[in-house]
Amino acid sequence: MRLAVVGGGSTYTPELIDGFARLRAELPLSEITLIDPDERRLSLVSAMAARMLARAGHPATVRTATTIEEGAAGAAAVLLQLRIGGQAARAVDETLPLACGCVGQETTGAGGLAKALRTVPVVLDIAERVAKVAPEAWLVDFTNPVGIVTRALLNAGHRAIGLCNVAIGFQRRFAAALGADPGRISLAHVGLNHLTWERAVYLDGTDVLPRLLDEHGERIARDVGLPVALIRRLGVVPSYYLRFFYEHDAVVAEQRVKPTRAAEVAALEESLLAMYADPAVDTKPELLGRRGGAFYSEAAVALVASLAGDRGDTQVVNLRNDGTLPFLPADAVIEVPARIGAAGAAALPVDPVPPLYAGLIAHVTAYEDLALQAALHGGTDRVADALLAHPLVGQASVSAELADRLIDANRPFLPWA
Ligand code: G6P
Ligand code: MN
Ligand code: MN
Repeated sequence: MRLAVVGGGSTYTPELIDGFARLRAELPLSEITLIDPDERRLSLVSAMAARMLARAGHPATVRTATTIEEGAAGAAAVLLQLRIGGQAARAVDETLPLACGCVGQETTGAGGLAKALRTVPVVLDIAERVAKVAPEAWLVDFTNPVGIVTRALLNAGHRAIGLCNVAIGFQRRFAAALGADPGRISLAHVGLNHLTWERAVYLDGTDVLPRLLDEHGERIARDVGLPVALIRRLGVVPSYYLRFFYEHDAVVAEQRVKPTRAAEVAALEESLLAMYADPAVDTKPELLGRRGGAFYSEAAVALVASLAGDRGDTQVVNLRNDGTLPFLPADAVIEVPARIGAAGAAALPVDPVPPLYAGLIAHVTAYEDLALQAALHGGTDRVADALLAHPLVGQASVSAELADRLIDANRPFLPWA
């Protein structure tokens, strides 16, 4: 089986390769093509990938390509893990909103909108190119903001599924806390990408979330950056991204005095690239664990294996709502457990969502719709509308000012500006 990775020159790629090597029995790959416009990165990362596979005794060959047409032909799945504008553009996403008193984050709030504006047109173009050379290929989107990008792909008729590591991260951490194999744990995970709550944690089918909150509440609260009293009272585990909502002003105050994540990651990337350039390095560096993508490779392997092998197992993915959450439009993209097989992902039924969560989910879904309209059609007013609809922005003057500023800062990436 052949697989292509768009953004293959990413420093994350060895994380993926490590997963392919470890999970060879699950996903028998014969060829991995790394596609990236950055030839320096491509040669460093592909050489590193080849060494890792050789060291693991994996038979797959590593190819490189600088165009989609060349790299995606014949692929069964194409993974999208690109970042338009790199860490420099991310730094703007993380700082610009702060000037207006809003949280600076690359997927949430105004920063996430800026990222969507830069990314959606590029990903749609890539998807069209893939469709020409590999019409049967599945597009697995890890490119943020995953909810909006996946909605763009699905609305355009592509065979796409959005993926994030938040759910698998919880599954693995809860399993460790319970001393159980992760395969025994499933989650009642609900919401939108980067806006989710764990409402139940099943160990062999029995909900053990109350016990987890009892015995490991402090640890879980620390991991998601929220007060333990809150999660015990609600009886759910919000993802780390809910901190940007539930503790918005505190996060803004922190961000004003802290270096950006973009700067941290840029420094990490330099060190990682230096390691990848060393012919003696042939295993995933420990340093890579300091990136946010833990278990990304395992989620990607499981998803591709179930799509290709029609396994019919349950995994948390981003897919079209189609009535699963009855308070959202059919074409909204939601993040819930789904049955994965050769025909794609089919959401499992979800228990009615209480207003405390449904309200925020609906609010952010409306924002995502407007964000997608802005990314597709451009214009200051559409950008301002999306910001006005975002629960973390929402004020008229702030929306107008942020719209102007983020368009200005992203002009080189906006085809319409
Ligand atoms: C998690 C999220 C990803 C995000 C990443 C950021 O993995 O699920 O969507 O891209 O964190 O990690 P970074 O190391 O770039 O801060
Ligand atoms: Mn994610
Ligand atoms: Mn204006």
